[in-house]
Amino acid sequence: MLVILTGAGISKESGLDTFRDAGGLWQKVSMEDVATPEGFARDPDGVHAFHNSLRKTLLSESIAPNAAHLALGRLEKESAEPVLLITQNIDNLHERGGSKAVLHMHGELLQARCTRCRKVFPWLSDLFTADPCPECSATGTLRPNIVWFGEVPFFMDEISQALSRCSTFVSIGTSGNVYPAANFCVLARQGGARLVELNLEPSNLARVFNESHYGPATRIVPEWVESVLKSGAPGKDGI
Ligand code: APR
Repeated sequence: MLVILTGAGISKESGLDTFRDAGGLWQKVSMEDVATPEGFARDPDGVHAFHNSLRKTLLSESIAPNAAHLALGRLEKESAEPVLLITQNIDNLHERGGSKAVLHMHGELLQARCTRCRKVFPWLSDLFTADPCPECSATGTLRPNIVWFGEVPFFMDEISQALSRCSTFVSIGTSGNVYPAANFCVLARQGGARLVELNLEPSNLARVFNESHYGPATRIVPEWVESVLKSGAPGKDGI
């Protein structure tokens, strides 16, 4: 199995901000205020307003999957080995790029969750504190279905299993700053996987990878996918 981890860098050329690059999201807003359970408890309206603006941007006509998302969609369809995509991204660009086996470990911006009845709903409009839960009708209980700092990421059991079994682990467009995702390459290596990094520049974890390609995702991801499909062996062929 081929396991691919993606981060904000893959969606950058689609027009979505990364978090830690110059001009990234965490230079514009305080992560503690808008992306922690404590920040939400202090100011739910402010946290909703922040996520409403991200959702509006994601749904705007100018945002579309780029060549890197499309290449991963193609890889899943054409690869001889099964492909599992684990994304830290809360956007829906992988799905729009044709990928089906996608685990959103940090949740999804286009979903809301009720903290009372725990039901998850597709949510394409603004979300407000006064909105009642469509299932249990409680108010003040809906939140974006997103994993904030200090919360446990989703799908960790499936992810651990996949990491221990994969033949190749590929990290794309992530700085390697946020755990547990930053540890996935080490876990995959312990299971015997070959490690490949595709990023604009060497990430924090660059030294552990067996193979690295640096440049914009829209160039290096399609090139890598092409080489994998041609050789039939992920990570064995250079690009
Ligand atoms: N092509 C490829 N890589 C790129 C591009 C590009 N066009 N542009 C930027 N990058 C790379 C950067 O060099 C950087 O290494 O993408 C990475 C983005 O890093 P971060 O901004 O830290 O994003 P990410 O790693 O996804 O963050 C992880 O942190 O804030 C939380 O929950 C949030 O899921 C996010 C997590």
